[in-house]
Amino acid sequence: MSRRVLVVGAGVMGHRHAAAVRAAGDRVALAVDADLTRARALDENALAYGSLAGALASPETVDAAIIATPSFQHLDQLVTLAAAGIPTLVEKPHRIPGQDPAGLLTAVSGGAEVFVGMSTRHWPGYVELTRAIGAGELGEIVGYTDRMAFALPEGALPAWYFDRSVSGGGVLVTNGVHALDRARALLGPLEKVTATMRPVLPGHDTEDHARVRFRAGTATGSIELLWAAYEPVATGLTVTGTRGAGHIAMDGSWRISTRDATRTGDAIDIDTVPFAAQWQAFRTGAAGFSIDDLEPTLTLIESLYREASDG
Ligand SMILES: NC(=O)c1ccc[n+]([C@@H]2O[C@H](COP(=O)([O-])OP(=O)(O)OC[C@H]3O[C@@H](n4cnc5c(N)ncnc54)[C@H](O)[C@@H]3O)[C@@H](O)[C@H]2O)c1
Repeated sequence: MSRRVLVVGAGVMGHRHAAAVRAAGDRVALAVDADLTRARALDENALAYGSLAGALASPETVDAAIIATPSFQHLDQLVTLAAAGIPTLVEKPHRIPGQDPAGLLTAVSGGAEVFVGMSTRHWPGYVELTRAIGAGELGEIVGYTDRMAFALPEGALPAWYFDRSVSGGGVLVTNGVHALDRARALLGPLEKVTATMRPVLPGHDTEDHARVRFRAGTATGSIELLWAAYEPVATGLTVTGTRGAGHIAMDGSWRISTRDATRTGDAIDIDTVPFAAQWQAFRTGAAGFSIDDLEPTLTLIESLYREASDG
């Protein structure tokens, strides 16, 4: 059945999600942006509104919603959509550090359907690696290294990303939420987690570099996150086991090598492929992306920021 979808936030991510909705044969019925021109540009067949409240008063009803606004707005908008009984895919982070999730947790325990947009877990290489680890192909996992780094020329991201009150912080919350989430999903609970972080780019008081170290079961691991003024090197996720290893590059290409065989996958269009897969996962109610799954990641990020500020 084709679904009618409400999209809140018609910026870069709103457009990616709208494309995924259309690719699945669903329809963007309502487009919301504080900037009405942007709302109108999201989908020529959608009704455009300047606020979520306005859209919820629309005569057009919807089956699902997507939240793709600046991060601090996610929590309030989630609670509003939960109260309206609309299943919602929310961009990461589902809340920013310091925001109290109590209202959202109450809504979820009351049955609200919320799916968090952890797009990197929908990369084909990540799906393959999850399967290989689950099947024991890599043996006992001993090492885990995730280097998620991006060249960030001036103006590459809207200014709100570097305003802690809107984004919640720098690279740790914006990209680290993906890295910590996928480490937890692949390895289980992270223990003895420590972090260092600092600004790198001129004019930033939020962190552009963060390094997180942890233990998880039999593995020791590290996550390095970077926003740089140059093209970073040696990036990607590497999982090392006693019987094999897997690597996923930042372009989505991947390699899994065991004593028996080597399998590989090509680079993907990371702006479309994972978002189409993610929308299908949301539609079919795939497990692993709920607030219960992601709230511990946010609590962990919150504690890392607290420890950093405590010195
Ligand atoms: N999953 C991923 O791979 C990924 C990648 C990039 C960004 N993100 C997340 O997506 C979210 C959006 O990021 P973006 O880069 O698209 O930002 P953006 O600034 O390009 O777009 C945000 C849009 O929201 C609109 N907006 C602001 N306040 C609003 C309100 N109250 N109601 C409705 N619209 C409002 C803005 O006008 C803007 O058009 C962020 O939370 C970010 O962390 C996720």
